[in-house]
Amino acid sequence: MPARLIDGKAIAESTRADIARRVGEFTARTGVRPCLVAVLTGDDPASAVYVKNKHTACEQAGFGTRVIRLPAQATQQELLDTVAGLNADPTVHGILVQLPLPSHLSAQPVLDAVHPLKDVDCFHPENVGRLAQGRARFLPCTPAGVQRLLGAAGVETSGRHVVVLGRSDIVGKPLALMLMQRGPGANATVTVCHSQTRNLPGLTQTADILVAAIGVPRFVTAEMVAPGATVIDVGINRVDGRLVGDVDFGPVCEVAGAITPVPGGVGPMTITLLLENTLTAARLQVG
Ligand code: GUN
Repeated sequence: MPARLIDGKAIAESTRADIARRVGEFTARTGVRPCLVAVLTGDDPASAVYVKNKHTACEQAGFGTRVIRLPAQATQQELLDTVAGLNADPTVHGILVQLPLPSHLSAQPVLDAVHPLKDVDCFHPENVGRLAQGRARFLPCTPAGVQRLLGAAGVETSGRHVVVLGRSDIVGKPLALMLMQRGPGANATVTVCHSQTRNLPGLTQTADILVAAIGVPRFVTAEMVAPGATVIDVGINRVDGRLVGDVDFGPVCEVAGAITPVPGGVGPMTITLLLENTLTAARLQVG
């Protein structure tokens, strides 16, 4: 029987409606409109689309929002000065520096410069440290989106074996931390696989929940998936002008118990969690 589809678009829509309601309440109570500013450096077309989608989602949910565009030749200092200006601006509650940066710039010093209370990506070392200790201020958007999807789809994580493909700082590493924590939507046994992992199919076949976040189109084949497993596809790859995930969707559907599509799975949830974090940031700063 083909896998049940986990509809990220629908789950994101209902979550965003709830966030919009809470933004309205917050603004009515405090007189402050939570505001996200995105910094887009250079001309990467995919980044421009992502930033536009974030901007539109903010507007639709009642947030204030702005995009600061810096040229591809911007210097490290210009970027740091831009972040410093946003840190000092009390009308800005969340700062998002869109990645990747042009290759002559270093991302880490810029991400480290974002004020920890405005760090809606959860990339600042203070916030990553808090996440690792189980006292998170913000949850990183894509991993939190995956966790919310699992919860909304009624997929149990407690005591289950989650195999995460990919050890990136944005997805694999923080997702593993979050799912192994004590608490609801977590308590999993987590294995993180990467380019040096031996016998990858042997490991993935033991997964109750398999998360693909490696950025290789259709990497996960049906033979790698246990019958009935839940498959979460974080990949967004452009192949011949089409978006495809890290999972070979058609054949894997025949084996898995539940699966997220690309597009319409994890992607809409990432933006949703960015909205959630921006509201949290405003609450932290406005009191
Ligand atoms: N580029 C791709 N994903 C992300 C993300 O989650 N945050 C930022 N800032 N840039 C990205």
